[in-house]
Amino acid sequence: MKICMIGTGYVGLVSGACFADLGNNVICVDKDAEKIDMLNNNQIPIYEPGLEELVFKNFSSGRLKFTTNLNSAVKNSDIIFICVGTPVLIKNGSADLKFVFSVANEIKKYINKYKIIVTKSTVPITTGDKIEKIISKSKKRSLFEVISNPEFLREGEAIRDFRFPDRIVIGSNSKKAVKKMENLYDPLIKKGAKFFYTNRRGAELIKYASNAFLSTKITFINEIANLCEKTGINVEDVSLGIGMDQRIGGRFLRSGPAYGGSCFPKDTKAITSTADIFKTDLSIIKAVIKSNDKRKSLLTKKVLKILSNKVSNKKITFLGVTFKANTDDMRGSTSLTMIPALVKKGGVIKYYDPTGEKMEFSKLKKVKFCNSIAEACHKSDLIIIHTEWDEFKSINFKKFTKNKKIKIYDMRNLYPVDKMKKQGFDYYSIGR
Ligand SMILES: NC(=O)c1ccc[n+]([C@@H]2O[C@H](COP(=O)([O-])OP(=O)(O)OC[C@H]3O[C@@H](n4cnc5c(N)ncnc54)[C@H](O)[C@@H]3O)[C@@H](O)[C@H]2O)c1
Repeated sequence: MKICMIGTGYVGLVSGACFADLGNNVICVDKDAEKIDMLNNNQIPIYEPGLEELVFKNFSSGRLKFTTNLNSAVKNSDIIFICVGTPVLIKNGSADLKFVFSVANEIKKYINKYKIIVTKSTVPITTGDKIEKIISKSKKRSLFEVISNPEFLREGEAIRDFRFPDRIVIGSNSKKAVKKMENLYDPLIKKGAKFFYTNRRGAELIKYASNAFLSTKITFINEIANLCEKTGINVEDVSLGIGMDQRIGGRFLRSGPAYGGSCFPKDTKAITSTADIFKTDLSIIKAVIKSNDKRKSLLTKKVLKILSNKVSNKKITFLGVTFKANTDDMRGSTSLTMIPALVKKGGVIKYYDPTGEKMEFSKLKKVKFCNSIAEACHKSDLIIIHTEWDEFKSINFKKFTKNKKIKIYDMRNLYPVDKMKKQGFDYYSIGR
């Protein structure tokens, strides 16, 4: 099939490359000319395991193309995926749809024959209705269908998630469009993915409700971890004990920093904002957002306690600063709150992240990026394991710090408490 992906970010680039790998002809469009130049020169603008090889393979075979020319991309495609960002609107927490509507206004000019326009971006209920209205102003309804196909891939696991999704959700009232989408996804359905369709608004809500539910699970176990810390219980036993109940399930039940990333923080806010418009109070999700925000200051307070409130000129190391491992994405990361707060208290921060230096900290004076774990840990007073990268899972702390009494705050519970204490480390973890 001939496909066009509009927006070549995490979602557009990964799914575009994966669709091409399934044998489709894919044109990825972005308004960011620098990004398109990089891609046309075999450079990948984001960090995602396996993506470079996949893009290179399909680009070389001619099935995957990159352009800034929306006109020809739309004209030459049967299915057009909208994959642009839907960030949060600061003033009220709703989803900012300016990129989505700007794309709708653009593509309406170039529709020359029947097209299926698919929102893969996460968009609030009724967005599909609005896109349909925009395009109807210049094109006959028989020339296009607007449908919803929310994306569930996770950064860091994006290619695997695309290839082996639990489910493919389509929201449309058009049997013809649903059939076309079923054909497009047929190779994944044959490998076991469930194909589920509902109406357009239903699919839009499924995406938000899924993210809100997963955010609730994380926040729930984080609060349970707080109770464990006060009562001498190991939260990991509690996670296992409740997760073995198949009605609950063990995933997203690991305590740690606040949830972050490009999706959960903005999507929880956007769903409550949409519900407010429809005069429905999503009080549980509102409580989750509040609890998650509070967690960032709670963890900072824990660091102050570990340092007996003497932070001035203390050397604090952050191992990992992204919101989770295997991604370079800093959006919504707990480190964005903790690091400035500790600097304000007089702390001197060194950080190492496998995905390199972060411009988010470039304006902070006492924050320095290091090129290795060893450099970051050298002469440190406190090491904070912030992100669960594999390379942080078996560190020889004694070798790196030469300080047996080094304080370690393991926010990912990567090391056994007994072993660390036996080795003489002043070791702290979450909920244990
Ligand atoms: N990142 C994820 O893990 C993930 C997972 C599932 C769903 N989503 C959703 O998918 C959507 C995209 O997310 P993302 O992380 O890929 O965003 P992103 O910010 O990485 O990429 C969006 C891209 O769209 C481009 N763009 C904006 N306006 C454009 C226009 N008019 N024409 C062409 N290109 C344009 C931008 O230049 C950018 O490259 C969001 O709604 C997000 O919520 C993201």
